[in-house]
Amino acid sequence: MTRRPHHPVLIRGQEAEDWEDVAAIFEGERAIAGTLQLPYQSRDAIRDRVENPRPDLRVLVAVLDGRVVGTLGLHFGRGRQAHTAHIGMMVHDSYQGQGVGTALVEAAIALAERWLAITRLELTVYADNEPALALYRKFGFEIEGTLRDYAFRDGRYVDAYLMARLRDET
Ligand SMILES: CC(C)(COP(=O)(O)OP(=O)(O)OC[C@H]1O[C@@H](n2cnc3c(N)ncnc32)[C@H](O)[C@@H]1OP(=O)(O)O)[C@@H](O)C(=O)NCCC(=O)NCCS
Repeated sequence: MTRRPHHPVLIRGQEAEDWEDVAAIFEGERAIAGTLQLPYQSRDAIRDRVENPRPDLRVLVAVLDGRVVGTLGLHFGRGRQAHTAHIGMMVHDSYQGQGVGTALVEAAIALAERWLAITRLELTVYADNEPALALYRKFGFEIEGTLRDYAFRDGRYVDAYLMARLRDET
């Protein structure tokens, strides 16, 4: 059962000044294991990414205890996939299981579906990432297929699921 924070989680758009908090999230062992990030990333590279976001990416952050503890990126499709967006997210290792991910996904769905006319939200998640699977299922994401040997993680290849949520089916 998830422990709820004493204070509500604030969700807002990512600002350039968030880069140090974001870099701290990227250093987490579980954050790295659950995503395609590599250990030992340069803080300069992360700073550059936060300060100069790609135009096809919108990043939301979660603020708790006065610091950014979670980040969620919506990567928009183009042309005939303009109705789609791909989600990538991570929560600081010390703040997982406290409802931060839930608040981020809830906000991302509202932004995508109610303001950006996105009708298909998709993501990839490692097949053994139980907390993430539970989070996405809670919001109506369904597994559409298995991506075998999707990525190399800590010495071995791991499968991932492709999951999606269709606005008009929820
Ligand atoms: C996956 C992740 C984003 C979830 O964020 P979070 O803030 O920990 O999630 P929440 O606290 O909002 O919990 C969401 C749901 O996950 C489930 N959950 C949480 N912790 C869990 C655990 N240890 N084991 C199993 N399920 C768990 C619960 O069902 C919970 O919903 P509930 O509170 O309604 O019961 C976060 O754990 C994380 O960043 N992990 C490392 C990076 C990663 O895996 N990113 C996702 C890539 S696809």
